[in-house]
Amino acid sequence: MTSVWPQDTGRNAAGEVTIEGVSVASIVQEYGSPVYVYSETTLRTAMRAWKQAMSDRLPGSRVVYAGKAYLCTSVATMLLEEGLGLDCVSDGELFVGLNAGMKPEMLSLHGNNKGRNELELALEAGIGKIIVDNFDEIDLLAELIDELNEEISAPMTVLLRLNPGVDVHTHKKISTGLADSKFGLPIADGQAERAVIRLLQVPGLHLAGYHAHVGSQLFDADAHTAAIADMIGFAAEMKAKHGVDLEMFSPGGGFGIGYLDVDTPIDPAHWVGLLGDAIEAACKLHGLPIPIVVIEPGRAIAGPAGVALYTVGSRKELPGIRTYVSVDGGMADNIRPALYDASYTAVIANRVAEEPLETVTIAGKYCESGDLLIENIDLPSPQPGDLLAVPAAGAYCLAMASNYNMSLKPAVVMVHRGESRLIRRRESFADLIRLDV
Ligand SMILES: Cc1ncc(COP(=O)(O)O)c(C=O)c1O
Repeated sequence: MTSVWPQDTGRNAAGEVTIEGVSVASIVQEYGSPVYVYSETTLRTAMRAWKQAMSDRLPGSRVVYAGKAYLCTSVATMLLEEGLGLDCVSDGELFVGLNAGMKPEMLSLHGNNKGRNELELALEAGIGKIIVDNFDEIDLLAELIDELNEEISAPMTVLLRLNPGVDVHTHKKISTGLADSKFGLPIADGQAERAVIRLLQVPGLHLAGYHAHVGSQLFDADAHTAAIADMIGFAAEMKAKHGVDLEMFSPGGGFGIGYLDVDTPIDPAHWVGLLGDAIEAACKLHGLPIPIVVIEPGRAIAGPAGVALYTVGSRKELPGIRTYVSVDGGMADNIRPALYDASYTAVIANRVAEEPLETVTIAGKYCESGDLLIENIDLPSPQPGDLLAVPAAGAYCLAMASNYNMSLKPAVVMVHRGESRLIRRRESFADLIRLDV
């Protein structure tokens, strides 16, 4: 199988897709459909590859997985075992990390509107760092530090999120470093400097450096390189004007993965080399020592490890228009095609050796015309009962899943060296009314 599939994906004598030696048909038989399958080897290999690349190129650096891509207790436990940190954007994500036994210092908290409860949890738990986004947040932090005085031991390390105003070659909805963005403070109009001055006035906060995340699903480092140059220039100015040392620096995540066979993702060592070159060049230019560099890959770790499995339920042929093939999942477990025209490939997983015979559109089962998972894909005439396997479904699918139409969120299964285990059970009807009062 090609590079969009997890490591060790193949096919058995019955013509079924296998992942780490486990047939996907047997997974559906045991755990039901739809179901998401993660390859443990692929997950761990990606975690190790990013960590190794960083420690080889930028000693002392850190890899902090962006939990928004996909988080559950199993993934958090794996991060703990592999020595990666967890980048959280909510108290819920902090909770999952802490509950799995991750050390608080391995967690960081992002967000453009962090609530009082979220900052309180971060301060009380003593997490590694908070990435400060705006002036109201600084005021709230100052207030909370005052209030929680007794309960907080060390100063809280903060990075200031900058908006470098760079253009990014990706979908508008996953561009975050444009001048018109809800994230971070612009350098250009002086707001970032005002935030630095304000942060220095808050006792209990330690401004260690700067952060920016320019966008997601990137296949080149142009935006990162431009942002790094601007941010380190800004850091040098803040050092000269306000005496702030650049101890820590984060260019975020955003490293693209293959969804289609034509995609050309950059491997971790190459990415880190490009980031390292840009950081070293900028630090040299401004006479700054190389800071601790923190990267936040999400998609690049979880994405390639996950495969969504659906069962075909019906066909509808509209002569001269298209043939719809409907599956038992869709936008409730994967909103990406409807949200930002994301493209996927797929195979008929129980007849994988067969030649494509027709062009069809894979429709989800939910009550929206826009619930189309894949438009115009060539497949070997999908029939009711066939299994459809969609690769590269490990990131931002289940993480964005909903109960639309009172659907039950799918089960999640981890496969490893010929074995499968349930890591998250399918929701039940009881789950649907559990919170109703
Ligand atoms: C601050 C921050 N860091 C990291 C990420 C992870 O991005 P990706 O999954 O593309 O690596 C995101 C994604 O939105 C983000 O906003």
